[in-house]
Amino acid sequence: MALTLSPVLAGAVFSGVPSSCLRRSAISSLHPPQRHSSTTNRTVRASLRLGPLIWPWDKVKVGPLSVSPMGFGTWAWGNQLLWGYQESMDMVLQDAFNLALKNGINFFDTADSYGTGRLNGQSEKLLGKFISEFPGPMNVTENVVIATKFAAYPWRLTPGQFVNACKSSLDRLQVDKIGIGQLHWSTANYAPLQEKALWDGLVAMYEKDLVQAVGVSNYGPKQLIKIHDYLTTRGVPLCSAQVQFSLLSMGPEQMELKQVCDSLGIRVIAYSPLGLGMLTGKYNTSTLPRGPRALLFRQILPGLAPLLSFLRRIAQARGKTMSQVAINWCICKGTIPIPGIKSVKHVEENLGSLGWRLNSDEILELESAAQASTKKMVQNIFQTA
Ligand SMILES: NC(=O)c1ccc[n+]([C@@H]2O[C@H](COP(=O)([O-])OP(=O)(O)OC[C@H]3O[C@@H](n4cnc5c(N)ncnc54)[C@H](OP(=O)(O)O)[C@@H]3O)[C@@H](O)[C@H]2O)c1
Repeated sequence: MALTLSPVLAGAVFSGVPSSCLRRSAISSLHPPQRHSSTTNRTVRASLRLGPLIWPWDKVKVGPLSVSPMGFGTWAWGNQLLWGYQESMDMVLQDAFNLALKNGINFFDTADSYGTGRLNGQSEKLLGKFISEFPGPMNVTENVVIATKFAAYPWRLTPGQFVNACKSSLDRLQVDKIGIGQLHWSTANYAPLQEKALWDGLVAMYEKDLVQAVGVSNYGPKQLIKIHDYLTTRGVPLCSAQVQFSLLSMGPEQMELKQVCDSLGIRVIAYSPLGLGMLTGKYNTSTLPRGPRALLFRQILPGLAPLLSFLRRIAQARGKTMSQVAINWCICKGTIPIPGIKSVKHVEENLGSLGWRLNSDEILELESAAQASTKKMVQNIFQTA
């Protein structure tokens, strides 16, 4: 009998919320290390005849912050249940982090709930350790922007509790100030009375100067407008909205959220841009990842044939990989994708998503292929309207 996963269970397991220097020559030649003058960039671009380009060191604004046009996600760093994390992986993760930093990536997403069981907070801890041990110039680490997320635990009911949560994250990250403090999810769907406490928590962190900017995650357009308006009355700018956004998750809700964000000057951060790995092309029904992802992939992958075959065709025609095309699509849609990485190879490959752009025909064809696919990603159970 085939095992099936209910959408709610799948949404919970795959929601990214708790259920409880190596530098490779290939990359260095394409992405020379830090401190590039714009003249150097122009020269490199001209010689490669690429354009219009976005390089990791061509930063984009998120509120007051300047970040690379793609960040990296660190949900897997500490998560044994879904991602098979082991502490023996830490050196590889550190190599991956160093490689990213040396090649201009300065944006990393984490959460205070990342890390399962006794490893809770491990993702933040590892980021803190890797930043402090980075074997490169100080100005590189000074420009790192960490976006962490604060879980809407039922016992976090006062601004003081959020301030304390923020101080614990600062300790784990070994920094004085967090780049973006984000609410991990809204409680509007199941505990609406708690919602205001979350909003006041963000205000308190901002007023105490513990975060440079504030953002939300898993907020739909309606709830986003509400929090935006509330924060405005409190004098706190909302800089970002993180949402599941990919070729597998590009429904009307995502597009409406993007429009609302554009009209309010809020950046959309695209999480799970590779559909948890399904858009990389390396999985099919006979080659599945270990752990609970296999259950989900077994259900979804057979319905993705039109999209995956078109993704493969574009990738081949462009000399790119399917992951690079999928990430580039998110950038073309005006979002900042944060693919999850856990190896040097992931970083190397995902860096190749930058420096070029899909053309409008390719984008349209990819989207039609996505629409023609009978399966989509399950949505986060905490996602609001
Ligand atoms: N706000 C939220 O509620 C929320 C929810 C989910 C995620 N997020 C954030 O978004 C980040 C990214 O999302 P995600 O990790 O869920 O999914 P994702 O980015 O869609 O997929 C990441 C996985 O794909 C595989 N991969 C990555 N690059 C690859 C490459 N170049 N080639 C082949 N495989 C590659 C890796 O897993 P394998 O090699 O094992 O296949 C990796 O762990 C998270 O780390 C987290 O920071 C936030």
